[in-house]
Amino acid sequence: MVIKPMIRNNICMNAHPLGCFKDVEDQIALVSKHGRWKGPKRALIIGSSTGYGLASRIALAFGAGADSIGVSYEKEASEKKPGTMGWYNVESFNQLAKKAGLKSENINADAFSDETRMQVIERIKALLGTVDVVVYSLASPVRTDPATGIQYRSVLKPIGQTYSAKTFNTSTHEVSIASIDPITSQEEIDNTVKVMGGEDWILWIKALLAAGVLAPNAVTVAYSYIGPEVTHPVYLNGTIGKAKAHLEASVKDIDQLLAPIGGKSWVSENKGLVTRASAVIPVVPLYFALLYKVMKEKGTHENCIQQMDRLYRVKLYGKGNGTSGIVTDSEGRIRMDDWELDPAVQVEVAKRWDLVNTENVAQLADIEGTNQDFLTIHGFGRADVDYDEEINTLFPKVK
Ligand code: NAI
Repeated sequence: MVIKPMIRNNICMNAHPLGCFKDVEDQIALVSKHGRWKGPKRALIIGSSTGYGLASRIALAFGAGADSIGVSYEKEASEKKPGTMGWYNVESFNQLAKKAGLKSENINADAFSDETRMQVIERIKALLGTVDVVVYSLASPVRTDPATGIQYRSVLKPIGQTYSAKTFNTSTHEVSIASIDPITSQEEIDNTVKVMGGEDWILWIKALLAAGVLAPNAVTVAYSYIGPEVTHPVYLNGTIGKAKAHLEASVKDIDQLLAPIGGKSWVSENKGLVTRASAVIPVVPLYFALLYKVMKEKGTHENCIQQMDRLYRVKLYGKGNGTSGIVTDSEGRIRMDDWELDPAVQVEVAKRWDLVNTENVAQLADIEGTNQDFLTIHGFGRADVDYDEEINTLFPKVK
């Protein structure tokens, strides 16, 4: 089959198997170039197929030499239809990890369900015995509560008043004003917290502890985002921000659970980057394009794999076993957004934000860079792939 990108409303509907394979190879090459470091030997990655979760897995596997089990929810490829980007990433990772002598398995199932937790625990027992690190990197619009069977849907809305801000169409490159209506009920906040808050993270840690598959001093890390003032009404102070506040507050509960085994939980505030999840947040694509330009000019821009390589290699395991001696902010959070929220970067982005319009967006913002990232994560836009060539949709299925 010949596969070309099909993009609608900032969503890419398909993925290229070979392009995804090469993207995983590139991420592995970056980590390998920085050399091996002493760290966890067995990892569980929940949300392992794309974005920050995939990058975490690569950083741990090819940086610390960790065997790993991943959990993700992706559409499988068939002979007639391509799978999702995450499906190809996982297949590629498994193949390349095994080639490098690392144990690697992935479970393609709903991570919010108790059945999946049980399945993962069985595989940990069989393949790894215990795990030293659990990365929690899910981004999902829906979650079914395993206790009640009720399905909750998250919303991305401001709280209190309508939010209007500049936005830009990634296809036409037109800058316009987007308005997002505020929530109409407390239920919308509660539902978003149910989906993207810390409840499920806690359930995972409880289940892993109860099954005895967490190693002494096990560490767990979840990801959050703060972002610039311009997105605060729709992100930090909006429904998703409430969910992230709940996730961050869960560290206290998880630390108590982990205390008997000497373990520790962390939230890392990551940098804003183009991923499947972030591409659909209104206003964010324009902010990212301005941010990329300013950070590239300053030489501080990082992509997902660079962020995760620095997080695990330097910040978490640089000086110890990931449980102590970690530099955090006053609220105990690891700040991987340190360079994004550098005042000099934010002042310049804010200046450009005020000036930007359809005519000057190409000069002020890194449209090319953000577009390229968007294509790359779906396996497209690569010079080393011939997109006119027939490709087996099952590639690179591990035999
Ligand atoms: P992503 O969309 O690239 O990855 C989400 C992962 O979750 C995928 O592996 C997907 O298969 C998995 N997933 C979703 N629903 C699932 C389910 N029901 N069962 C099993 N797996 C499921 O998203 P991204 O951007 O990497 O986000 C990961 C975390 O990082 C999120 O918590 C997000 O809020 C956070 N973050 C993202 C930032 C960004 O700019 N992209 C910035 C800071 C934090």
